[in-house]
Amino acid sequence: MDKLSINGGNTLHGEVAISGSKNASLPILCSSLLTSDSIALYNIPHLNDISTTLNLLNYLGVKHYWNKNDALILQSNQINCLEAPYELVKTMRASILVLGPLLSRFGEAHISLPGGCSIGQRPVDQHLKGLSALGADIRLEHGFVVARAKKLRGSSIRTDMMTVTGTENLMMAATLAKGQTILENAACEPEIVDLAELLNKMGASIKGYGTNRIIIDGVDQLHGAEHKVSPDRIEAGTFLCAVCATGGDIILHNVILSHMGSTVDKLIQAGLNIQFGDNWIKASMKSRPKAVGFRTSEYPGFATDMQAQLMALNTIAKGSALIVENIFENRYMHVQELQRLGANIEINGHSVVVHGVKNLSGAIVRATDLRASASLVIAGLIAKDETLIERIYHLDRGYDSMDIKLRNLGANIQRVTVDRE
Ligand code: EPZ
Repeated sequence: MDKLSINGGNTLHGEVAISGSKNASLPILCSSLLTSDSIALYNIPHLNDISTTLNLLNYLGVKHYWNKNDALILQSNQINCLEAPYELVKTMRASILVLGPLLSRFGEAHISLPGGCSIGQRPVDQHLKGLSALGADIRLEHGFVVARAKKLRGSSIRTDMMTVTGTENLMMAATLAKGQTILENAACEPEIVDLAELLNKMGASIKGYGTNRIIIDGVDQLHGAEHKVSPDRIEAGTFLCAVCATGGDIILHNVILSHMGSTVDKLIQAGLNIQFGDNWIKASMKSRPKAVGFRTSEYPGFATDMQAQLMALNTIAKGSALIVENIFENRYMHVQELQRLGANIEINGHSVVVHGVKNLSGAIVRATDLRASASLVIAGLIAKDETLIERIYHLDRGYDSMDIKLRNLGANIQRVTVDRE
């Protein structure tokens, strides 16, 4: 398994192109199941969760290839399987996103339940509640969700909480249902807007996306379309956190500032200087960051996917910061690893207090989940001497060439390939 070796202390300088959004791409790939026509997707990032999703779609019979312009072409005119097996689903919970499309177009789907996740229980009960409301017969059999429906019927659905993939699953399912579906308490993340825009290009009739109330008028069938996936707001936020922690000045290209408002607000409070244009952000940092507290919440609040990265920044900030994680019940796995690097952090249930120290010192640490790995990378960039991060397959799930991009910005970071461990 690969490791990352980082010798901290370098400031970051230069330019970086932000990749397409992982969390927009995953549902968008699954939406290819809704039509027998081909769809062409641009700006899909090259990272492991994309490969995992393509493996699953391939298993179902979806054909895909990357064309010479790096567009991903998918076609679902030869679906020969309606089952997502545990072997594939256990490595990526977002596999649940094939449930809505398969059920809606083919009337049946057998999807393995994903099993545990390090950041929280992450049940899919709201996905199932919504599909039942659309008329599906849902059973849990031997670790599988077995869903059947002759024809889904539109309905009004209010989920118990705002769920990103729950909203995406139900929105996709409703596109081919008979009649109108109203999703109340829908999630508003930019990734949902991205998906809805593609679905409407494919002939769906969706309104209100980006708000808590989405209205979908079912249509008989969807057709092919082309779509460029939005930039990854979490990758962009991660780079801004990094330069705020190390000092320096960088320019991010291919970003949408309005998707990152809550993160940028907090980093400006920490002392980051920001300039921006249509699709670029220039960030510079000349002093030690100031501690900045935050509470995670649904979009447009502070993103839970940025919590670990901003915590890493706070470890060497001036002052103390109160952090409250309100979305997932166990998203503090990075705390113990940051403590190994010399961070002064107290966990009190759902909240954490970070007392900034002058500097961190390198150590061997272990990545536990995707955003925890990004947090350890940022800490490694500031820690004196060498930090060796193990299990960086977590990082490679959600970041496209993070180590290469950081090295190009002047970081002393190397990927160490270890054959056996
Ligand atoms: C999406 O996960 C993202 N993943 C996550 O990003 C992100 O952290 C999360 O949304 C919150 O923004 C993708 O989009 C692929 P939720 P999702 O359903 O949809 C509870 C990353 O690092 N819930 O919005 O799984 C759930 O337990 C990943 O890129 C239920 O109880 O998250 C959580 O506490 C990590 N029942 C809360 O709702 C359900 O049926 C929000 O979860 C569904 C959710």
